[in-house]
Amino acid sequence: MNTKTSGAIPNGTATLTYGNKRVELPAFKATEGPDVLDIRKLYGDADVFTYDPGFTSTASCESNITYIDGDLGVLLYRGYPIDQLAQHSHFLEVCYLLLNGELPAPKEMESFESTITYHTMVHEQITQLFRAFRRDAHPMAVMVGVVGALSAFYHDSTDITDQRQRKIASHRMIAKMPTIAAMAYKYSLGQPFVYPLNHLGYTENFMRMCFAVPCEEYKVNPVLAKALDTIFILHADHEQNASTSTVRLAGSSGANPFACIAAGIACLWGPAHGGANEAALKMLQEIGTVDRVPEYVKKAKDKSDPFRLMGFGHRVYKNYDPRAKVMRDQTYAVLDELGKHDDPLLKTALELERIALQDDYFIEKKLYPNIDFYSGITLKALGFPTDMFTALFALARTVGWVAQWQEMIEDPQQKIGRPRQIYTGPHRRDYIAAEKRG
Ligand code: SDX
Repeated sequence: MNTKTSGAIPNGTATLTYGNKRVELPAFKATEGPDVLDIRKLYGDADVFTYDPGFTSTASCESNITYIDGDLGVLLYRGYPIDQLAQHSHFLEVCYLLLNGELPAPKEMESFESTITYHTMVHEQITQLFRAFRRDAHPMAVMVGVVGALSAFYHDSTDITDQRQRKIASHRMIAKMPTIAAMAYKYSLGQPFVYPLNHLGYTENFMRMCFAVPCEEYKVNPVLAKALDTIFILHADHEQNASTSTVRLAGSSGANPFACIAAGIACLWGPAHGGANEAALKMLQEIGTVDRVPEYVKKAKDKSDPFRLMGFGHRVYKNYDPRAKVMRDQTYAVLDELGKHDDPLLKTALELERIALQDDYFIEKKLYPNIDFYSGITLKALGFPTDMFTALFALARTVGWVAQWQEMIEDPQQKIGRPRQIYTGPHRRDYIAAEKRG
């Protein structure tokens, strides 16, 4: 690893012996978390690959942005704990932090906010793109399509070798994602699109674009706006998760930033990833009542049953997801503000959590509620339909994707991602003419 540009500290070597080969692998110490063994020369020196489907033990990059300690339930954005940011910061300030590495001074925040506000409108012709979709199209299908098409409208910010263009593209995506998500929602309702208003804050603007109608004034509820803004903070970034890795891999080929983010949205849609909030709420609705919870916990433990508790478990968190704790607080805040204390879904979720957390199967496999377990209840109470939940996750994660994409482009160590494989297919064989086949 080129220590000139890297924050990783050389820490001796590891020796690997295999057959008649003996390889010295340089080790590097992280500032937080596990050290790494640099295996880039392994294939050249020992003619072997490593094998790690799902990348459970593989670092794909060096990053200074986000750190997770899965055992301690720690999540840091540029070193700041997620619970402190949720309590003291706001989403646009967290965007600045993730993009620039430091919390903004007041003047910097003011300038950043006006830059983002300036980019919130979309090219008017983009409204035509929506009309090509059926009204009942899933909002994530619409967002993948519309975001991918942005490169056809914003040619002046697609040259990834130009730092100024990279910055403009990043600001455009952070600014326009709420507008696009709101347009997808309005289109599904058959209601007119609502334009952003520059005097509103980022999250207030989004809520108004979703819930305002031309025939009457819309007043944003500040308690609900604050809860949604906090939810956006919780979803902003999360190390090298599946969708972020997708964005990085797409970006490593030199694809334009809009195409890379569209790829990230497509990956996030999966129910094992960002689609889990939609799946978790549907699961709670299917369970229905508290008395049916044990039946579903039994199904989740049954190896012959593909059913899993959606919103439970995590590749990294083998302790409580720190975001889930904050998420649960936001759920209570929203339900209290709306007077929905006795929401049956919350009762079912609390009972499911209570039973699962004392069940040996979940304890042994270290399965705890993740951020998606409570988010669906909160977003539904805020007035969003279930199929908009992952679109909101994509809205919030855009800043993380963009920050990671920028870091990848600027990292001298990075090159086009091209994993290898272990081949277990047929040996070489000659073609058999059709008439000679069995
Ligand atoms: C997100 O990576 C990120 O950072 C993602 C994310 C982000 O911010 O970007 O945090 C967002 O995607 C959160 C996760 C949302 N997904 C869900 O809630 C879907 C339900 N969870 C599972 O599908 C699962 O837990 C994963 C996909 C989240 C993690 O899977 P892993 O790490 O590959 O673990 P695994 O599938 O190997 O499971 C380990 C064991 C298995 O049993 P065994 O084969 O060892 O006997 O735990 C079991 C699994 O069967 N298991 C579950 C379970 N999750 C895992 N059993 C029941 N219910 C579950 N939810």
